[in-house]
Amino acid sequence: MSDAVQIGLLGLGVVGGQVHRLLTEKAMVIAQRGGRAVTVRRILVRDAAKPRATGVERSLITTDARDILDDPAVDVVIELIGGERPAADYIRQALQAGKHVITANKEVMAKQGPLLLALAREQGVGLYYEASVGGGIPLIAPFRRDLVANRIRSIRAILNGTTNYILTRMANGGAELGTALAEAQAAGYAEADPTKDLDGMDAACKLAILATLAYHAPVTLDVVYTEGIRGLAARDFRYAQEMGYAIKLLAIAQEQDGTIEARVHPAFLPAHTLLAQVHGVYNAVVVEGDLTGPVLFYGQGAGAAPTASAVVADLIGFLKNMNQEGYRDPGFLDEGTVSIRPMSKVHARYYLRMPVEDRPGILAEIARILSDGQISISSLFQRHIDQTARTADVVLMTQRTQEEAMQRARAELSTLAVGRESPGLIRVEE
Ligand SMILES: NC(=O)c1ccc[n+]([C@@H]2O[C@H](COP(=O)([O-])OP(=O)(O)OC[C@H]3O[C@@H](n4cnc5c(N)ncnc54)[C@H](OP(=O)(O)O)[C@@H]3O)[C@@H](O)[C@H]2O)c1
Repeated sequence: MSDAVQIGLLGLGVVGGQVHRLLTEKAMVIAQRGGRAVTVRRILVRDAAKPRATGVERSLITTDARDILDDPAVDVVIELIGGERPAADYIRQALQAGKHVITANKEVMAKQGPLLLALAREQGVGLYYEASVGGGIPLIAPFRRDLVANRIRSIRAILNGTTNYILTRMANGGAELGTALAEAQAAGYAEADPTKDLDGMDAACKLAILATLAYHAPVTLDVVYTEGIRGLAARDFRYAQEMGYAIKLLAIAQEQDGTIEARVHPAFLPAHTLLAQVHGVYNAVVVEGDLTGPVLFYGQGAGAAPTASAVVADLIGFLKNMNQEGYRDPGFLDEGTVSIRPMSKVHARYYLRMPVEDRPGILAEIARILSDGQISISSLFQRHIDQTARTADVVLMTQRTQEEAMQRARAELSTLAVGRESPGLIRVEE
């Protein structure tokens, strides 16, 4: 066996710490399965004084990225810092220096993945990112290999465990969002700053990465319509259950007539469907290929061990590639283009919930606004919120209609709502 492959580890946090442990504890397995031994040469952190797990050699720790990026002896950089900056710069500099890179960074891959993959190809090095989507669930490799003969009709997925945990609590315990979030934070399933999860950004990054692979052309974060879960109320879940639906934060990419829809938003799903039954922090991805039909991926989408599993798998894959004379990892070879359907042109059925004054004629006024917008109602019911204040929720489902028309009608309907509140709107995915 030739000399050990030298690793520069960027980040020693939740995932980095676990990867570091595996590199020690599973050193034999990695060497056997990858055909080469590996050594950690240097570790970049932000705070050198922070206590570290036993087994971390303090002399390897640095706070200067140059110690890794400018070191010609480092063969492969494992980036586990997170966030776009400075992680993206470090990845670019590592590739430019001819180093292979493994990353778990969804934000960088969703925003700059196509450019970085092109750079990696130019430099003749590998850029691996299995851990960036779905933690330990294999997704990048199946898209690149096992599903590649398919035309991908759709991806429908639950890609954020934090929000799925919160939505599960809201559905099962009747909790409002704030309470469910506090519980998720106490259980370690939500970060102190949960913005990227609640606003759908995390799921949108992951969808952009998967859609890019599925449609063989860059689908970057900026073209993914993104709406989070902050507008959901506990009573939406009650009404959904009455109608036989679950509410999930859904990531959808689908192709129709040559254009792609890429969107993340809360959605009503019939309660009997597979995705409706994905609870807690679990993730699931249903890919519909023209040859395979639906294929389901399910598992833990985050966490130190599942994510480290994907990072180390990429490392072993890289070691194997290295050993094949003349073999180059193809990376991102597709430079096609796709046309993206704007959200305003998307068609769906809609659930609407609006608090109104309980008075005669209100339903007729709602029906008139919808009918003026050519929107047909498929069902409607009313539930009292407050008997004394005489306010009620009007809850309705529409037939399939265009988003543009629905949003226009929604704005007009808000003039009828108590406090001119914009009606709660959730798309229905049958
Ligand atoms: N956590 C998960 O379950 C999970 C799942 C899937 C993917 N990921 C991805 O994995 C990556 C790492 O996540 P994580 O949860 O392990 O993050 P984390 O616990 O916050 O760890 C980040 C590490 O990077 C270091 N760091 C941060 N900014 C730095 C900077 N500017 N310069 C040098 N070092 C810096 C930190 O140093 P200090 O230790 O000194 O603070 C820390 O060691 C992210 O891209 C994340 O999206 C995480």
